[in-house]
Amino acid sequence: MIKVDHISKDFISPKKYPGLRGAVKGLFSSEKVVKTAVDDISFTIDTGEIVGYIGSNGAGKSTTIKMMTGILTPTRGECLVAGIDPSRHRKENAQNIGVVFGQRTQLWWDLPLSESFTILKEIYNVSDENYAERMEFLNRVLELPDFFDRPVRTLSLGQRMRADLGAALLHNPKVLYLDEPTIGLDLVVKDNIRKAIREINEKYQTTVILTTHDIGDIEELCSRIIIIDEGKKIYDGSLNDLKDKYGTKRKVSMEIKQPEKIKKLSLTEILGVKKEECDVEFDKEKNMLCVTFDKHKIQVPQVLTAVMDAVEVKDVQIQETELAEIVKEIYNHGVTA
Ligand SMILES: Nc1ncnc2c1ncn2[C@@H]1O[C@H](COP(=O)(O)OP(=O)(O)OP(=O)(O)O)[C@@H](O)[C@H]1O
Ligand SMILES: [Mg+2]
Repeated sequence: MIKVDHISKDFISPKKYPGLRGAVKGLFSSEKVVKTAVDDISFTIDTGEIVGYIGSNGAGKSTTIKMMTGILTPTRGECLVAGIDPSRHRKENAQNIGVVFGQRTQLWWDLPLSESFTILKEIYNVSDENYAERMEFLNRVLELPDFFDRPVRTLSLGQRMRADLGAALLHNPKVLYLDEPTIGLDLVVKDNIRKAIREINEKYQTTVILTTHDIGDIEELCSRIIIIDEGKKIYDGSLNDLKDKYGTKRKVSMEIKQPEKIKKLSLTEILGVKKEECDVEFDKEKNMLCVTFDKHKIQVPQVLTAVMDAVEVKDVQIQETELAEIVKEIYNHGVTA
């Protein structure tokens, strides 16, 4: 459905000089700075996939989406969406895609929502029959009737987001681009929006590309993620592979009955590992022993047996590395081979 082939986007802006004199100098200078916001990115996305497109602030996510929607023309490379080059054939492309930018609405601010929908119906040439079928579905999953007659400017953020999502889907697009669709929403509305996205994807096989800073969106919706950093693609694969590869840390926390015995317990010796391979901490106030290790080097039962042989354990908790931690690590340090 989508083929992105070595695309890059450079933004060229006049060089800035510091201070007031600099500002004046800048007016007469012809020096330019080039910022490569997207740097040689390629991927393909199949029909019906939901792909999370993630990266830290300024990584180039929105710029990529803008090229895929035809708002921006790539400086280099090519992109095809449903067989069409979006920046060359904007009109045809518009029929195939729906876009929601969480940061701003695409609807007419002063018009009642219902009128925005009527206008969109005309713009996209949606037949009466298709309109009725679509609206029945959208009304149900997005609960639009609650505020359908109100001007868009009077809607709450959550209502506006549901309205925007509905508007983007009215013409049954093949591809749906969502740029931070759950930003600023409370947990309940977030959950509703996610459910709606999943239902739309299942019912119509809509291909979805989603950028987000909310790890919950990713976990709930995406089986595949693409991570970009400083304009370059640094990971493309399944969420499970990412967790397998980077989420190898395990933390076992145990509440101990006889804290006085802990001192004598030398876990690394019993487990036969080096000190740096197993981090042992004891919280004297809570009587909690926390052991952190790599699951490929040490097994959880080994740790439990070693401790329980020596002391009585009241309670046990086993934690995996959370996806949020993994992603933070990758944003900070990149991917390691
Ligand atoms: N029109 C523009 N002119 C100049 N630079 C731009 C323009 N649009 C974006 N940039 C720069 O390109 C880089 C990538 O921006 P982009 O909006 O794609 O990031 P993003 O990944 O969407 O970030 P965020 O998570 O903050 O939304 C940034 O450094 C940004 O300042
Ligand atoms: Mg963005």
